[in-house]
Amino acid sequence: MTSPAPSVGAEAARRRTFAVISHPDAGKSTLTEALALHAKVISEAGAIHGKAGRKSTVSDWMEMEKARGISVSSTALQFDYADCVINLVDTPGHSDFSEDTYRVLTAVDAAVMLIDAAKGLEPQTLKLFQVCKHRGIPVITVINKWDRPGQEPLELLDEIQERIGLTPTPLFLPVGIAGDFRGLLRRGEDGEPEEYVHFTRTAGGATIAPEESLSPEAAAEREGDTWAAAVEESELLSASGQDHDQELFLAGTTSPVIYASAMLNFGVRQLLETLVALAPPPGPRAVVGGAARDVTAPFSAVVFKVQAGMDAAHRDRLAFMRIVSGEFERGMVVTHAQTGKPFATKYALTVFGRERSTVDTAYPGDVVGLVNATALAPGHTLFSDKKVEFPPIPSFAPEHFAVLRAESAGKYKQFRRAIDQLDSEGVVQVLRNDIRGDAAPVLAAVGPMQFEVVTARMRTEFNVETRLEPLGYTVARRTDAASGPELGRQRGVEVFTRTDGVLLALFSDKWRYQYIAKELPDLTLAPLVAATD
Ligand code: G4P
Repeated sequence: MTSPAPSVGAEAARRRTFAVISHPDAGKSTLTEALALHAKVISEAGAIHGKAGRKSTVSDWMEMEKARGISVSSTALQFDYADCVINLVDTPGHSDFSEDTYRVLTAVDAAVMLIDAAKGLEPQTLKLFQVCKHRGIPVITVINKWDRPGQEPLELLDEIQERIGLTPTPLFLPVGIAGDFRGLLRRGEDGEPEEYVHFTRTAGGATIAPEESLSPEAAAEREGDTWAAAVEESELLSASGQDHDQELFLAGTTSPVIYASAMLNFGVRQLLETLVALAPPPGPRAVVGGAARDVTAPFSAVVFKVQAGMDAAHRDRLAFMRIVSGEFERGMVVTHAQTGKPFATKYALTVFGRERSTVDTAYPGDVVGLVNATALAPGHTLFSDKKVEFPPIPSFAPEHFAVLRAESAGKYKQFRRAIDQLDSEGVVQVLRNDIRGDAAPVLAAVGPMQFEVVTARMRTEFNVETRLEPLGYTVARRTDAASGPELGRQRGVEVFTRTDGVLLALFSDKWRYQYIAKELPDLTLAPLVAATD
């Protein structure tokens, strides 16, 4: 007898799909390793995202990433924990790739905001938090590196409240000041101390830290004033209404907080527990011109990331889709909403660091990589049954512009093909106009490191040496066919067509833009989505 097929609704309900948002060096890679260690995906921390000194460099797919110690490629880590399926979708670490990060954030249901206890809120965290807020993604806060000297626990919470208007509601308070991390006080719904989780360090944090659970009375006896200080903090928080409230958390008003040390594996299990208990499962998703798509509707998915050349051994192009509704079965033929063409899903993978394994079935919330999906681009929809289309992912206002040329005219064909490929992956935006012609397109980026990715990939994947010439524009505005010619006649302005058909006017600086907008008020000059919107 075969067991009955799992119901899509039940499978969706046990998914938790989230991303970690943080400033570089806050400990995202360390936390990812620690989570995987807890989920027993790996037996020793250090096998997923090594940087210098760690075991391997699995997610570092390009030399450039290795050299700079950044991770550009997006991978999804899936593991089972306490009857749930956890999907951790990786985000690029550097702010120059914030457009990629934004796309990843369209594919998750919750975010973990990881903060370095000594540094507090840092610029990249703030930016990414704004994206979460904009998209209504609930945020769980993890205050990391509590094993090192830092600020007072409540000071950090005040900073969060004051600078981003999010009310922190700790679920676990540290027992012991920063630098003397002994364990966690678990707060009940009303802020009452419920439990003391005492941790024991292990060598190098390479294995799970043994935990001991003590009652509040036993904790008072063992830790004395240190426990009393944590209890007092908990009471102060309750007095100011900072107790967890699930509705307010889901509405993005409050954020549950956990103090942790990713390096020592302290607080990591508590994070998993929180994700399971509080993070929202996949829910309905807005569609263009119709009612939101429920998770139990026929199969549909949204592509949020396209990546080629992730691994020298697999020079293929992978499109990562997040399943929105229904059951995915490898081999099923679905429809690509943007072209109306059938799409066969014979090669479907999960990508976990350098490991790739075939996916046979997947459910809402899961991330699946489709191999050689040349027609797919970020924001595209795949569906079965009746047509459905998810809203496109907005592209960011570029702030850096450069002309790209092939060093040798004989390589024009490869150059052209490479540009098209990188453009459709969303690596950079490509702008053209009649004056400049096709041999020297203008690349537009949110951060200059995107250009480096282009030239590096041109060389390694397409065997084309290229030359970049920076262009002196810094401001882009959306315009239209009626305003284009007039704008093009202005000094310090140039008009381009982006591949998606949008007309962009580029200005040398904001003063030039402001002057023209004032002098010629009838022209269309609309703002583009800024990286911080
Ligand atoms: P990122 O992915 O967010 O950029 O950060 P990553 O995990 O690489 O961590 C940045 C640095 O912070 C690393 O040190 C890492 O060991 C350290 N770190 C992460 N979590 C903790 C923690 O809970 N406590 C302490 N004390 N340190 C932590 P590094 O010296 O740059 O690299 P490594 O040689 O230690 O790997």
